[in-house]
Amino acid sequence: MEWKDTIIRDLQWSDEIINREGKERVAAGIASKMKDGDVIGIGSGSTVYVATLAMARRIKEEKLNVQVIPASVELSMTCTQLGIPQTTLWEKKPDWTFDGADEVDPEKSLIKGRGGAMFKEKLLIANSKETFIIVDESKFVDRLGSGFPVPVEVFPAALLYVEERLKALGATKVMLRMAKGKDGPVFTENGNFVLDARFDSIHRAMEKEIKEITGVIESGLFIGYDIKILSI
Ligand code: A5P
Repeated sequence: MEWKDTIIRDLQWSDEIINREGKERVAAGIASKMKDGDVIGIGSGSTVYVATLAMARRIKEEKLNVQVIPASVELSMTCTQLGIPQTTLWEKKPDWTFDGADEVDPEKSLIKGRGGAMFKEKLLIANSKETFIIVDESKFVDRLGSGFPVPVEVFPAALLYVEERLKALGATKVMLRMAKGKDGPVFTENGNFVLDARFDSIHRAMEKEIKEITGVIESGLFIGYDIKILSI
């Protein structure tokens, strides 16, 4: 028996999609990479959402047989809505993954995690043979951290310890990310907090240094990864 009139059927992207036109162009590029039989890791964010819509159109028109592994509940619900078959990392390894970014520097290092899904995003990238980062032109920066803080997913009991350690690493400001549409802080899909840490400079060892702090699950720094940047 089928559900009728469901929330999933009526779901929309949860926020305004900034620079949708640029995102549509890069989405078309990534959708054209899909081949029959592919298992694809899907990151999160609005660019990934727009790309997933473009993929769904190709899957339908060309009757492609693909499976996806989404990094977030939001994208998983979108795939359900669009009828894109999903699998898990327990069953399959992605042939390739695509994801968005908040900042991309000239060395192809990234800040990600506005959506708070950086742990699973990193896991997908670690498991994929190839990763494409899809960005519109607004995401390129000369210096990582110039526009965005570094998001850090933190086990709740470790909140103040991690704040102290991030400041010792040079963070000039550390903020607990607060929710919209709910009182209090954001909880990630893993039940953790997100701290947004501002740094005046971010050096190459910093991803590792942040990860080494007890209580840090993952950060939104992606430094020196083997990735391809797709932009228009
Ligand atoms: C989600 O956790 C993020 O890493 C996104 O990929 C990143 O924030 C980019 O988001 P937009 O595509 O919405 O700009």
